[in-house]
Amino acid sequence: MISVVAQYKLDVRCEDDVVVVRRKARQLAQLRRLDPFATAAITTAVSELSRNVLVHGRGGIALLEEVSDGTRYGIRATFEDQGPGIDNLERALAGGYSTTRTMGLGLSGSRRLVDRFDIQTTVGKGTMIRVEKWQSA
Ligand SMILES: Nc1ncnc2c1ncn2[C@@H]1O[C@H](COP(=O)(O)OP(=O)(O)O)[C@@H](O)[C@H]1O
Ligand SMILES: [Mg+2]
Repeated sequence: MISVVAQYKLDVRCEDDVVVVRRKARQLAQLRRLDPFATAAITTAVSELSRNVLVHGRGGIALLEEVSDGTRYGIRATFEDQGPGIDNLERALAGGYSTTRTMGLGLSGSRRLVDRFDIQTTVGKGTMIRVEKWQSA
């Protein structure tokens, strides 16, 4: 059973918001004593995914949560937008594919950096991505 210890809902509407979300994720990871590698991993993933909300999803929200399973703490980050959705999810997750001529490594890289990665996307409706990073055992 995972319980939510605290949660922070942040808008992702401009570049400055991406910076704020990234900074908050790092702060929470440090607060919850994730090790430096795990802290860097969740910070990087949050940065990439919030930028995707802005660039590809036309803006949305980020929900950052301190979570606990009773033994360890973790950070959960959920991103939601009402943008165009992702039509070929397999291709987008494989990496090296971008509709904006950038690196196309945000999704695939983020997925590799976290302990849990869930995505729901509907073309024409939007995208929800949830990631978790936990204290190492
Ligand atoms: N929130 C989103 N809404 C719609 N499309 C997205 C979203 N996030 C990612 N994508 C699609 O997946 C592709 C790959 O994303 P990513 O790996 O972050 O690479 P990049 O951002 O460099 O294009 C994007 O080019 C875009 O087409
Ligand atoms: Mg990206």
